[in-house]
Amino acid sequence: MPDIDPAKLAASRAAIELVRDGMRLGLGTGSTASIMVRELAAKVKAEGLSLRCAATSKATAELAESLGLRIETLDQIGWLDLTIDGADEVDSELNLIKGGGGAHLREKIVAMASDRMVVIADPGKVVQQLGAFHLPVEVLAFGFEATQELLRRALDDLGLGGKPVRPRRRGGDLAVTDEGNYILDLALDVIPDAPALARALAAIPGVVEHGLFLGICDMAIIGRADGSTITL
Ligand code: 5RP
Repeated sequence: MPDIDPAKLAASRAAIELVRDGMRLGLGTGSTASIMVRELAAKVKAEGLSLRCAATSKATAELAESLGLRIETLDQIGWLDLTIDGADEVDSELNLIKGGGGAHLREKIVAMASDRMVVIADPGKVVQQLGAFHLPVEVLAFGFEATQELLRRALDDLGLGGKPVRPRRRGGDLAVTDEGNYILDLALDVIPDAPALARALAAIPGVVEHGLFLGICDMAIIGRADGSTITL
């Protein structure tokens, strides 16, 4: 196992404190969420907890199952008490950019089907204004070029620079999501009006989902390298 980032570990441990026997949990995706899943599996074993868990990606489902956690589909569980997930950026209003791992579609579905969404992150994820991290947009393969052009025009209309680019994953392959869709990254630097951008993106038919999580997160636990945490 790679060296564990102490800030991510501290945030994960604090979030796991919120887990109670019998809960229905959503498990996020990414390096921080992976640490949380390992901590959760250890807690379940140590305390003999009975949980129902839904994963936000194939990678998280595989990891959780390899550690002895039973994963069910969201439809089997129906509704969740709590989802714990990472984020690429979080602002003081708990608005997020997510999807650096290309999982934001399932992550948003799971988070919004939860009574509570808690973000776990290291201090580098806390920003004054969203936008420095590229904003991932999941788009259908059908009509991809037209969707890319419509995205370009939407950004122009909003006075935002940056053209939509298909990112490559490790190994050089173009990114394809768990749903078989494409990803377009928007390098924007700053997003002055996130709700306006979210509306413009949602109005494009080939856009399946974007990585802006506005008004979805209930709490963010920011871990620090010394093992302490702060809560937003
Ligand atoms: C994946 C995500 C991740 O939660 C986000 O990219 C943060 O990842 P990490 O914990 O590895 O920094 O949204 O789609």
